[in-house]
Amino acid sequence: MTNPSARRLERLVRGQATSDGAGVKLTRIVANELHQRLDPFLMLDAFGSDKAGDYIAGFPDHPHRGFETVTYMLHGRMRHRDSAGNEGLLKNGDVQWMTAGRGVIHSEMPEQEEGLMSGFQLWLNLPAKDKMCPPWYRDIPSGQVPEFTTEQGVTVRVIAGHSQGTDGSVQRDATQVLYLDLHFPEGASAHFDQALPSQHNAMVYVYQGSMDVVCGEDTAAVPAQHLAILRNEGDHVRLSAGQGTRALLLAGQPLREPIVQYGPFVMNTKEQIIAAMDDYRAGRLA
Ligand code: CO
Repeated sequence: MTNPSARRLERLVRGQATSDGAGVKLTRIVANELHQRLDPFLMLDAFGSDKAGDYIAGFPDHPHRGFETVTYMLHGRMRHRDSAGNEGLLKNGDVQWMTAGRGVIHSEMPEQEEGLMSGFQLWLNLPAKDKMCPPWYRDIPSGQVPEFTTEQGVTVRVIAGHSQGTDGSVQRDATQVLYLDLHFPEGASAHFDQALPSQHNAMVYVYQGSMDVVCGEDTAAVPAQHLAILRNEGDHVRLSAGQGTRALLLAGQPLREPIVQYGPFVMNTKEQIIAAMDDYRAGRLA
């Protein structure tokens, strides 16, 4: 017997090793070719190294327009400064949510010369009507990220959206974004259920340990450092893991609008990209 209302695994994706900024080594988990499939998500990068040479150069001043960046720091210290006058220090467990909107120029620089730095940066698209909105920025210290522990011992950090009655730090009407960080218990296997409308695109990235996507008697294994894209069916997902597995669960309402990306600009038409580049060159972006 299977439970047809639970989501199944569609496919597994392995990130690609790359570098960005001034030479920061990272793993690009969601890249351009998944734009359409994972709409409204544009990119997901994981960074993690205890070798300073992999991160020390940071991300000096660069522009963005047309979407939001969400940085989730697991370990380390990173200083953010932007042209809208915002500044913040991101450290263990903190979240930074930046809506680039019509444009922002920012830098993200390590504030450590040794030790482990790890975390994630997610790019979340904005609907056409909001792409030219004023920039917005919020630092969410780790202690303010809403968190709960299920009866089975799964700790759930609700960065965005809603989970089992807990509201996340940020809510978005157009994309209905859900962003959870799940910590499974060290010992025996526990499961975690999350309600998910079938039309929302959803994915799980396992960054420590491994887990199963469970649908009735069927289970599909997701190994460490793999992204599981979930099929668009059913009304929830059931994830099962023990041994201290940690994973991000992300879901969102697709925007179904044209996506035209040129580097740090993500708009709906080529003309809008040309306008973004003109504005940047002319100093009108900040
Ligand atoms: Co940036």
